[in-house]
Amino acid sequence: MCGIVGYIGKKPAFSILLSGLKRLEYRGYDSYGFCVLNQQNEPFLYKKVGKISEAEVELSNLKVNGRVGIAHTRWATTGAVTEANAHPHFDCKKDIFLVHNGIIENYREIKEKLIKEGHKFTSETDTEVVVHLIEKYFQGNLEEAVRKALKEVRGTYGIAVISKKDPEKIVAARLSSPLILGINQDEFLVASDPAAIITHTRQVINLDDNEIAVLRPDNFFILKEKPLTTIEWTPEEAEKGGYPHFMLKEIMEEPEAIENAIRGRLIPEEGSVKLGGLINVSEKLREINRLILVACGTAFHAARVGEYMLEEYAGIPTEVDIGSEFRYRKPIVDKKTAAIFVSQSGETADTLAALREMKEKGILTIGITNVVGSTQSRETDAGVYTRSGPEIAVASTKAFLGQLATLAMLTVYLGRQKEMGLVMGKRIISELAKIPDLARNVLKSAPEFAETSSHLTPRSTLSNSAIEKLAEKYKDFKNFWFIGRKYNQPIALEGALKLKEISYLHAEGVAGGELKHGPLALIDENFPTIAICPSDSVYEKMISNIQEIKARGGLVIAIATEGNEEIKKLVDDVIYIPKTLEMLTPMLSVIPLHFFAYCLAVLLEKDVDKPRNLAKSCTTE
Ligand code: G6P
Repeated sequence: MCGIVGYIGKKPAFSILLSGLKRLEYRGYDSYGFCVLNQQNEPFLYKKVGKISEAEVELSNLKVNGRVGIAHTRWATTGAVTEANAHPHFDCKKDIFLVHNGIIENYREIKEKLIKEGHKFTSETDTEVVVHLIEKYFQGNLEEAVRKALKEVRGTYGIAVISKKDPEKIVAARLSSPLILGINQDEFLVASDPAAIITHTRQVINLDDNEIAVLRPDNFFILKEKPLTTIEWTPEEAEKGGYPHFMLKEIMEEPEAIENAIRGRLIPEEGSVKLGGLINVSEKLREINRLILVACGTAFHAARVGEYMLEEYAGIPTEVDIGSEFRYRKPIVDKKTAAIFVSQSGETADTLAALREMKEKGILTIGITNVVGSTQSRETDAGVYTRSGPEIAVASTKAFLGQLATLAMLTVYLGRQKEMGLVMGKRIISELAKIPDLARNVLKSAPEFAETSSHLTPRSTLSNSAIEKLAEKYKDFKNFWFIGRKYNQPIALEGALKLKEISYLHAEGVAGGELKHGPLALIDENFPTIAICPSDSVYEKMISNIQEIKARGGLVIAIATEGNEEIKKLVDDVIYIPKTLEMLTPMLSVIPLHFFAYCLAVLLEKDVDKPRNLAKSCTTE
C-alpha cells in the first residue's frame, strides 16, 4: 500500500530516490521520507507530511551527499498522517533506518515487550517494531539482524534497511508484499513497484517471499540464485502495475482488499473479531439498540448489504440512507442509536453533513473509512479502517470489497456482544477467512489478468475470458436490468451503477420481487437482465423472476453458484461463483459485475478511469 525505493551505487542517491518517489506519487500518498548515509556514514533523515510535488523547490535546494539511501511514500493504515509516523523509522540510537510496506499483525505484543526491554518508540506505527527488533539483534551484521528480527513478526512486509554501523549496504526482504531489485552497471536499486525505477533500469529480479537480499555498491546477493528478468512495461503502464487502466488493476486487487481488511482482526477460536478502532466505545456499543448507516454511491450499496447482515446476524434494527437525503429527513434518534458512516474517501460532503448532524444530536458516530486521517475519520467518535489501499479510478471497486468485509466483521463484533452464539461466530469467521481465495477463483475467469504483481510484461486489455466474451456479445445493447434479492439486491444496484458510470449505458438495479410492479413492462428482446441468483434462501424466488422475464422474450445472464447445471437450461448465459455463506455472497457476486462493466466500457472506448461528469470524491453538497 506504500511505496519503497532504495539506491546504492556511485551516483548521488538523493536525486534518484526523489525521482523514484515522484513516479509513485500519483496514487495520492499522504507523507514521505528519505534517509541517505553520507561518506562519513552519517544519516540525513527527512520526513514530511504532504505531497512531494508541493515541496519540489524545498527538496531541490537540499544538499544531500551520499550514495546509499532509502525512501518511502506512505498511505497511512496504522497511525495518523504525521511526520513521526512517516518512514523511514529508526532505532533508539538512530543507527538503523527502515522503510516498510505491509502490515505487522502482532506489533502490539512486540511493542509491549520491547518497551519493557527499554526501547523508546517515537511513532504510532506497526512498522517501528521491526527496526527496534533489528536493533535488538544487531551485532555488526545487518542482514543477520534482519533475518532474526523477521522471525518474530507476523503479517506482510516489503522492507529496505540501512545502518550507519554496517554501511555501504541495503538489506531488503519481503513476505506477501511486492519488492523488486533493479540491477544496473555498478548500481543497484530496490523498489516496491517497477514504476519507481523503470526510468533507471529495466533489468530486475523479483524477490520471493522469505528471501533476503543484500545490495552493495559493486555487487549483490540473495540467499539463492535468481534469474534476471527484463521489464517490458512503458513508464505509464508501470504506474498501473502493467494494466491498461487503474480500474482493472483495482478490480484485480479486490481479493487483496478483503485480505487487508480482515488481516489480524479475526479470532477464529473465539468466533469473534478484534477491531482496535472500537475499543474506546465498546461499552457504549453494548447499549445500542438501533443502527443507522449513512453513505453515498457505491459505499451506500455496501451499507445496504450491511443492513441485511446486521439485522439477520447481530439482531440489531438497522436502517440505511444516502447522505443527501438523511439529513433533510429530520431523523428521529435517541441515545441508544449509533450512526455508522461508510465512505472510501472520508471526504464526501453529503456523508459528512449527515455525520455533523448526528454529532449535534449527541449520537455515537462510527466511521468505516479507507483514508486514514480523512475528515470523517477525525470527526467520528470511533471507527474501522478498511485498508484497501489507494483507489485511483473514479468508479469505486476494491474499496467496496473492503467495506463489505469490514461490515461482516462489525456484524460479528456487535452480534457477539448480543445474541450471536460461539458456533455462529466461528462459522462466519471461518467462511470470511476463505473469501480472499474464493475471490481469486472468481477472477480466474479473467486468466490474462489473474497474475500477481511479479508479471512484468504488458497485460493486454482484452483476452478471452468468459466475461469478456459476454461483454462482446452484449456490447450493442443500450439498456440493462440488474436484479437480485436479499443480500444481492444491493449488488444489483451496484452492478447497474458501475455500468452506467463508466459505459454511459442505461442500467437499472431492482429487487427481483419488484419486477412485476413495473419494470416488466420494459422487458423485450432488446433489454437484457443480469440476475444474481446464487443458491441461497431466495434462490427459488429468483428463478420465478427469471421465468417471468423469459416468458416475455427477455435475455438473461445469471450469476449462479458453481455446480448449478440446471440454470443453464433456463437462461442465456451463466457466470459461476463459488459457494459461501449467504451473507458473504456479495463479496463474490459483485466481482464479475465490476469486471463486466469494465469490459463493456473498454469495448465502447470510454474513458474508464475518468468517466465524464463524475468525480472521485464529491466534496460539495
Ligand atoms: C463518488 C464516486 C463513487 C463513490 C461515491 C462515494 O460519487 O464517484 O465511486 O462511491 O463518491 O464516495 P466515498 O468516498 O464517500 O465512498
